[in-house]
Amino acid sequence: MSKVTVVGAGRYGSTAAQRLAELGLVDEVVITDVVEGLPQGLALDMNQSRYLERHPTRVTGTNGYEETEGSDVVLLTAGLPRKPGMSRMDLLEANARIVTAVTRRVAETSPDAVLIVVTNPLDHMTTLAAEVSGFPRERVMGQAGNLDSARFAHFIAEAAGVDILEVEAITLGSHGETMVPVPSLCRVRGRPLPQVLDAATIAEVVRRTREGGAEIVGLLKTGSAFYAPSSAAVKMIRAVLERGQMMPVCAWTAGQYGVSGVYLGVPAWIGRGGVEEILELPLTAAEAAELQAAAASVRRFADELHSLAPEGAAAG
Ligand code: LAC
Repeated sequence: MSKVTVVGAGRYGSTAAQRLAELGLVDEVVITDVVEGLPQGLALDMNQSRYLERHPTRVTGTNGYEETEGSDVVLLTAGLPRKPGMSRMDLLEANARIVTAVTRRVAETSPDAVLIVVTNPLDHMTTLAAEVSGFPRERVMGQAGNLDSARFAHFIAEAAGVDILEVEAITLGSHGETMVPVPSLCRVRGRPLPQVLDAATIAEVVRRTREGGAEIVGLLKTGSAFYAPSSAAVKMIRAVLERGQMMPVCAWTAGQYGVSGVYLGVPAWIGRGGVEEILELPLTAAEAAELQAAAASVRRFADELHSLAPEGAAAG
């Protein structure tokens, strides 16, 4: 019996649960949230759609953790989203407390799960969840690279005037200001991006990708993006449960790209064991330097994180 737990019944969590259920990949999706009635109501609604969508997955909604027991994957979406004008880092303190509390619960009830974190600020919350859970580092990873790559691909397709399916794109680094979109590894109809778009256009596409989340927060005014983010998380879950795949994820580094002992967006082979291997793709000198700067920036906040959640960090 396969089971995925989604912690947090906001728009990200509920859309991810719906996507998962409609895929029919697992026997059960459990949604847990502190708000009474919300996960139960969403589950009832999704279960009623089974008659129409014809999917076999059952959805369970709960305010507790008993029902989440023995999950194969836990998707951690709990936390506050940004408001217009906020950076992801503005959420650090509030979300550190939430992530600490929920990680403790899922680590107890699903000690063998692969933990996928999407709460912002992403790189820091992934670091925290790894410490609090005490799980081996390869079983804790963060979702950002699939989402940022999807945004990069969208903007490239628009600028080049091609279909999105003719674009391959990848972003590394942090899920924030030190995001590293990697033009040298992007392809448009098989051709390297720098042969297709001029440098100024690539720079604009990179800028819009880095600010891709904020652009949507500004338009929505309440809450942040959730359609592409939930697709990005479900892609990771499929790689774990269905078939291994290479994708950029926030993973614990051990010397790759000259970076060690920090959670950072890198290309990795994702499979049943979580992060099975970090791949070292050829980067230009400038891209490699940007990746190292991203690592330094994530590392700078590690101490601040410990002072915010000393108990949680110690528990790991
Ligand atoms: C975004 C949030 C989900 O980038 O981090 O839209």
